[in-house]
Amino acid sequence: MQDLKGKTAVVTGAASGIGKALATKSCAEGMNVVLADVEEGALAKARDELGRGASVISVVVDVSQPRAVDELARKTLEAFGSADLLFNNAGVGAGSTIWESTLEDWTWVIGVNLWGVINGIRTFVPIMLKQNRPAHIVNTASIAGLMKGHHSAPYITTKHAVVALTEQLSVEFERTKAPIGVSALCPSWVNTRINESGRNRPTNLRNQTEIQPTPEMLKRWEQMQEFIKRATPPAAIADAVFEEGIRMGKLYIIPHKETAQVIKNRFDGIMKDV
Ligand SMILES: NC(=O)c1ccc[n+]([C@@H]2O[C@H](COP(=O)([O-])OP(=O)(O)OC[C@H]3O[C@@H](n4cnc5c(N)ncnc54)[C@H](O)[C@@H]3O)[C@@H](O)[C@H]2O)c1
Repeated sequence: MQDLKGKTAVVTGAASGIGKALATKSCAEGMNVVLADVEEGALAKARDELGRGASVISVVVDVSQPRAVDELARKTLEAFGSADLLFNNAGVGAGSTIWESTLEDWTWVIGVNLWGVINGIRTFVPIMLKQNRPAHIVNTASIAGLMKGHHSAPYITTKHAVVALTEQLSVEFERTKAPIGVSALCPSWVNTRINESGRNRPTNLRNQTEIQPTPEMLKRWEQMQEFIKRATPPAAIADAVFEEGIRMGKLYIIPHKETAQVIKNRFDGIMKDV
């Protein structure tokens, strides 16, 4: 998709990190922008920051809820009359091994990371098909969606599912000759608040017994925070998304080229058993 000026971008998880950078870039491209997020205060702040001189609205939405995503689409069409770029980007992390992750961890992470993307596709694709003009969907997965092994089982499971969903969507669009492009964004570490995802965890999905962190766990957490601060700035990810995904039409956007080896390792492992 080349012609972006005056078109409309919808960004979920737009109040922070990668989503905020995607929204900023969409504004810079002269697009109308719909900022969607569950964190009300941060969303209002992002709206104030981006809104000056631009066509920007914000909608509080929990992407795990299909009706809320329908309402997001209704407000988008009411404000701007079309939806041309969709960033299914909201995401959270929680849990550990498959058996130690609680049912609440699994439910929350699957709800946001997987149902959020399914809801976005089910709601917005029919609108885009009706528009019958070029459109593009970017689903934020992760390098975790292309590799084997991660410290959070719910996270890696949902990110593999988002990659599969994106591949499936590309096949369905090709088969039906839909004028819609689709990409899976698969970055490695980015300097965002992903490690503080718990700030948006609904009360009913909180764990009954929170683990009391040991001094060693706290030290590891601090080291991780320092590491993330030095990770790739979200703006560089947004640049890659627009260049490689939206303009070049790549199915996989892999901004960290050094991750090629972990992807290859997974496929080598599969091929070894064929
Ligand atoms: N930061 C990284 O290193 C990294 C790497 C690979 C992939 N990702 C993915 O990037 C995406 C964006 O995360 P980020 O790193 O910018 O983190 P972030 O925490 O800075 O931003 C995530 C945003 O999603 C919002 N959100 C959470 N639950 C929501 C819900 N139910 N409905 C609507 N919005 C919700 C949050 O309020 C927040 O604004 C996620 O899908 C994440 O898995 C991040």
